[in-house]
Formats: sequence, structure tokens, C-alpha cells
Amino acid sequence: MIRAEQVSYSYGGGGQTVRDLSFRIEKGEFAAILGENGAGKTTTVKLIDGLLKPTSGRMLVNGLDTTKTRVSERARQVGFLFQNPDRQICKSTVREEIAFGLRAVLGKGAEETIRERTDELLALFSFRGDEEPFSLSRGQRQQVALASTLAVKPAVLILDEPTTGLDYRECTRIMEFIKTLNETEGTTVVMVCHDMEVVLDYARRALVMAGGRLLADGPVHEIFRDAALMERASLLPPQIVQIAGRLGGDYADADDAETLSALIAGAAERRRA
Ligand SMILES: Nc1ncnc2c1ncn2[C@@H]1O[C@H](COP(=O)(O)OP(=O)(O)OP(=O)(O)O)[C@@H](O)[C@H]1O
Ligand SMILES: [Mg+2]
Repeated sequence: MIRAEQVSYSYGGGGQTVRDLSFRIEKGEFAAILGENGAGKTTTVKLIDGLLKPTSGRMLVNGLDTTKTRVSERARQVGFLFQNPDRQICKSTVREEIAFGLRAVLGKGAEETIRERTDELLALFSFRGDEEPFSLSRGQRQQVALASTLAVKPAVLILDEPTTGLDYRECTRIMEFIKTLNETEGTTVVMVCHDMEVVLDYARRALVMAGGRLLADGPVHEIFRDAALMERASLLPPQIVQIAGRLGGDYADADDAETLSALIAGAAERRRA
């Protein structure tokens, strides 16, 4: 689905912001891109989206080189949720905002489909169509931006820090929705995320970046258990993984909170017996 072949990118003015990136992400994967501030995560997802073109190397999405695909084709393939929703929102009502992306992809002739799809998303996110995006909270604006990105039903969904500024309930709601899309529609998800708990709960694979390079790429729980790697990337694993690591033995292999608490409950049971 996504193939980066020795991709480098420079914003100009000397050094390369991302260097020699090679990876493949298959259809239906849920991958997270991790790394400290300035590691090159946003640059990398913009290269996948085709908003930026490699300075050298090739980026292929669905077999097509991003330097050769048209904007309309790209919009159908790849949906991009920006780090800041306000850079995305451009219409004065939520309904218009959701319809806008659809119109760009489906064309003006498809008004009926556009209305149906817009209604569907308004209902899903419990929005009133006549609300003004800029009168909503940051979390709600994030959801408006997400709704308009999803309306197009892209094959690849790129999320740059989708949970920033959201409260716990908003975060869970958005993430559960994305998880369902990934599982039922086979939507490929690439998510940049600073919240390691969210990464552990939702992503299955993690690509770790530092200084514009790809440091590691593997299953999320393996990445989190690699203390040396996490330190090199200036990342802190989720609390549950830290606790499991400190307990050692079988505990250190527990991949999630459920397994770990079952192990702890088992040990307490044995002690009582
Ligand atoms: N438009 C630009 N022009 C010049 N340099 C840029 C531009 N955008 C980003 N950079 C630089 O490129 C580097 C990587 O930026 P990028 O936004 O990809 O990092 P990031 O990993 O997404 O960081 P963050 O976690 O802060 O969002 C940074 O040093 C940044 O200052
Ligand atoms: Mg960024």
C-alpha cells in the first residue's frame, strides 16, 4: 500500500530533514510513527500524502509514485488529519465543512450522494449541521476535521497527533471510531502520536524516528520493551510496560494491562492459598 524507497527530504537551506527512509506499510495495517519533537514525523507523513515530494528516493502509494499522481486522485486515496484542525477547517458551517472534501472528490454532479454521506457523518459524530466550526471546542473542531477527512472513505488514513487537546472521552470516541474503520473496512492507518498509552491500545506496529532517520520498526509491544531503543529515541514507554518491566519474569512479557493484571491476580491468589 505504502512504500518508501530511500526517501530523503530537505526543506532547503542545507541539511536533510528526513534521511534515507525505507519502509513498507501493507493494506489494513495500523501503524504508529513515534519520535521526539522535530524527529521528522510530520514531514514523513506529508511525504506519504504527497503534500511534499522526496528530494531523493521514491514514495509509492498503491503502486503510484507520489510525484506523478494528481491532487484529485490523491484525495481519494489518502485522507490526512492535520496536527492542527484549524489549518484544515475552511467553511462556516459543519455541514459545509464535511461536504467540501466530498465535493472535491465526487464532483459537483453528485449532490445527492454528498448530502447522504454528510448526513451520515453528522449523525455519527452527533453534530448539528448548522453549527459554526469556530464556535466549537478544540476537541470538537478536531472531530469536524476528522469527519470531513473520513467522508471521502480514503484507503489510507493519516493522522498527525489525532488526540492532542482532546479529553479522555473525546479521545476514546475518536480512536474507537478509527479502530472500527481499520478492522471493518480495512482502512490503512498511519498515526503520529505522542501518547504512548494510545499507541499501545490501538496501533499494532511502531516506526521509531530520531533525527530524521528511522531507528526501528516492529510490533508495538516489542518496541516498548526495548529500553535502550526507547531511550535513544527520547521516549517513555507506557506506564503499564514500565511496571511490567520492573516486575521482571513473566510480567515483563505481558503485552497489555489485562494480561498483567491477570498475572498479578494469579500471584496474589497463590500467596493466599
Ligand atoms: N516548513 C518547514 N521549513 C523548514 N523547516 C521545517 C519546516 N517544517 C519542519 N521543519 C523542520 O524539520 C524538522 C522536522 O520537523 P517535523 O515537523 O517533521 O517534526 P515532527 O517530528 O513532526 O515534530 P513535532 O513532534 O514537534 O510535531 C524540524 O527541525 C523542523 O524545524
Ligand atoms: Mg509534527
